[in-house]
Amino acid sequence: MKEPQNRVVQAKRFGGPDALQVVDAPLPTAGHGEVRVRVLASGLEYTDVLIRRHLYPQTMRHRPPFVMGYDVIGEIDQLGAGVSGFDLGDRVADMTVIGSNAAYRTLRADRLTRVPPDLDPAEAATLILSWTTAYQLLHRAARVRRGQRVLVQGAAGAVGQALLSLGRLAGLELWGTARGPHAALIRELGATPIDYQREDFTPVLADGFDVVFDGIAQDGYRRSFAALKSGGLLCAYGYSAGVQAQRRMATMLMWIARLYLWGWLPGGKRARFYSINLMRAQRPAWFREDLERLFGLLATDTIRPRVAERISFDKVVEAHRRLEAGGLDGKLVLCPDLRPSGG
Ligand SMILES: NC(=O)c1ccc[n+]([C@@H]2O[C@H](COP(=O)([O-])OP(=O)(O)OC[C@H]3O[C@@H](n4cnc5c(N)ncnc54)[C@H](OP(=O)(O)O)[C@@H]3O)[C@@H](O)[C@H]2O)c1
Repeated sequence: MKEPQNRVVQAKRFGGPDALQVVDAPLPTAGHGEVRVRVLASGLEYTDVLIRRHLYPQTMRHRPPFVMGYDVIGEIDQLGAGVSGFDLGDRVADMTVIGSNAAYRTLRADRLTRVPPDLDPAEAATLILSWTTAYQLLHRAARVRRGQRVLVQGAAGAVGQALLSLGRLAGLELWGTARGPHAALIRELGATPIDYQREDFTPVLADGFDVVFDGIAQDGYRRSFAALKSGGLLCAYGYSAGVQAQRRMATMLMWIARLYLWGWLPGGKRARFYSINLMRAQRPAWFREDLERLFGLLATDTIRPRVAERISFDKVVEAHRRLEAGGLDGKLVLCPDLRPSGG
């Protein structure tokens, strides 16, 4: 049989989308405790923009060239020594931060989550980073309660849509900031839209929100904190606005540090930063448990993640330009099996 070919999306330097190239690569071999997967789907995320621009704390030490790709749904095609409990053909998922925008890759067996075989791989891929982040923000970090009034910044984004969908399931009363043309989408997801380009969200509720989720950091989270009620909680988890404004990493880290100082201000408001990697490092069982729960919700059609487009290798650079330009209403997912003409 012909040996399968590997291709990868490589960051050849730090910088804009042009820093990426798609290249042939050696086929990896599963080492001890590892499996090799044929990649079925791998997300293209806004977080990849941070990694590519050298603005992501967890990957600051990596030096190009390295392979991009935060998460993966794959089918096991090789078992390394010492691996038990998995078979060839099993579908598995992992969050790898880098390395998964590839046709083949190896993964540590002890980090895998099983994927029900009949799930659509691209839809399943959206659940790994974006929806697990949303689930953990709601149920692990903020521990929301039915009836709470919650504001989601960047509500039309990958994490934002997941926060609204899962927030509705949790019985929350929801508001979401998004650009005007996305108002219908926000309503469809069960929230009241606020046009972030025209409206101020701070006076929307006279006594303030119970919880605000903010992955944008417009004005360094200041207005999100101001929009809380007394005793309310700001869960910050990203700083897209700082990236767009080409702020330095030190500035963004200062915004995050300041969140903890705000907790000392009078008024009893609280603020914290959530990181999926930090939570996975501290509580690895939660990551698998939460992702399995989301796969279950997808299998029963309880949640419907939106895939804006399935991307072939030759469209990855353009996909990164689209991620930076904004305006997407769903997630871009690399599907290595797609022929160029299908993209
Ligand atoms: N801490 C963690 O563990 C974690 C996990 C996942 C993601 N993140 C981070 O969270 C952020 C969001 O991730 P994502 O994947 O959801 O990104 P995304 O898909 O790009 O979504 C961001 C959304 O924010 C909107 N937006 C831009 N500027 C805004 C503003 N001033 N006010 C309100 N909305 C605005 C964008 O809308 P337009 O289309 O109108 O521009 C877009 O819909 C990223 O910075 C990402 O790196 C962190």
